[in-house]
Amino acid sequence: MNKNDYDKVINRAIEIQKEWRVLPAPKRGELIRIFGNHLRQDIEVIGKAIMHDAKKIHAEAIGEVQEAIDMCDFAVGLSRQLYGLTIQSERPEHKLQEVYNPLGVVGVITAFNFPCAVWAWNHCLAMVCGNSVVWKGSPKASQVTQSCKEAWDKAVSECFYPDLKFKDLLQVVEGDKEQAEWMADDSRINLLSATGSTAMGKALAPRVSARMGKGLYELGGNNGMIVSRYANIDLAVRGIVFGAVGTAGQRCTTLRRLIVHNSVYDVLLEKLKSAYASLPVGDNFKEETLVGPLINQESADRMLSVLEQAKAKGYTVHGGEVVEGCTVRPAIVEATEQCDLIKTETFAPILYVLKYTDLEEAINIHNAVPQGLSSCIFTDNVQEAETFTSAVGSDCGIVNINIGPSGAEIGGAFGGEKDTGGGRESGSDAWKQYMRRSTVTINYGKSLPLAQGIKFGD
Ligand code: UN1
Repeated sequence: MNKNDYDKVINRAIEIQKEWRVLPAPKRGELIRIFGNHLRQDIEVIGKAIMHDAKKIHAEAIGEVQEAIDMCDFAVGLSRQLYGLTIQSERPEHKLQEVYNPLGVVGVITAFNFPCAVWAWNHCLAMVCGNSVVWKGSPKASQVTQSCKEAWDKAVSECFYPDLKFKDLLQVVEGDKEQAEWMADDSRINLLSATGSTAMGKALAPRVSARMGKGLYELGGNNGMIVSRYANIDLAVRGIVFGAVGTAGQRCTTLRRLIVHNSVYDVLLEKLKSAYASLPVGDNFKEETLVGPLINQESADRMLSVLEQAKAKGYTVHGGEVVEGCTVRPAIVEATEQCDLIKTETFAPILYVLKYTDLEEAINIHNAVPQGLSSCIFTDNVQEAETFTSAVGSDCGIVNINIGPSGAEIGGAFGGEKDTGGGRESGSDAWKQYMRRSTVTINYGKSLPLAQGIKFGD
């Protein structure tokens, strides 16, 4: 998309939002409700597009659309709950309130790996909060962007027919890095929500900040799991396998680091190696496949090169063989220390395994990476579990007990700390980021007392 067309899109987004923001929120919720129905109807169509673009297996592709449907249901409920506080005033006959109003235009940038669900996290909240949306999907997932846009447009015409005034509430910006930079620099965009790599976020965030804009970032993860000597090992194995190889290791929540107590290391590793050996890896369109191809050859080459670097360090690598093209068997790497290679997110199914002897050491290893998205511990010991969720525990935005780090529900706020960018999307009170908060003070008396008891000429 050229700059001229881009400008038209943004100007249209501004224009249409002026009408949208005055529609009562429950009426906006009605559109989201209808959209949810269209997603239900089109689940296979969008699912197929996800299988095609993101190379996901069927179950995961459908799961992703389900996540978008869940977001619709959540946003419909929210449409009657976008409420603020009433606060006691220190002045007589005064009232303090918090009022939430729409922001304006929300820019959404999404990655190839969750091309539908992550957009829906942002889109459903932004819409119900009274904003218009300008969406730059991943150029690697253009069929998904198109099929989501079609489902949305059908919902808009069903909801408002024959009125066409809300036709462009959602507009798509086609493009890549250059268009993302236009969005970051553009003060007509009131919130830029960007999901993708830390490198992408670090390139865009200073541009958004330079114009004092609002940014919401959900960036790289380097998610760890501690497996304690009190863990249910078979449960942990299930959690590890889905966490590390699901979506071919291409979730921001993928399990990348396993920190295992010395006493259970050997037994766990044996079970893992055999689970990995029997994984059906191949064509993501085949029903029996659990691990499909990586997104492209570049990604597969990067995985292979990282495995070579691990071998050069003397680490033992299990798996990682090329099946064909960019389809690679997931790998387990037995490491001896958490070196820079392990601290870097490689967006592929590589699981590093490290040993520990006491919990404090495990938590230190766990937190000693630049990223802070998702984390977990497998333990049946309540002291260990609670410690992991406490001030001295995991430093991540998502902290799980006896669950792998991936596969979060939409009801909680999603995002993480440090290089993950600090943003929160989807559930809980994430909606507040899509609104402007005004502190409103109302004087319903006949005098004008000043705060802090200041006397000014009286
Ligand atoms: C992502 O990889 O960007 O928690 C999102 C999960 C999914 C979302 C992942 N619900 O794994």
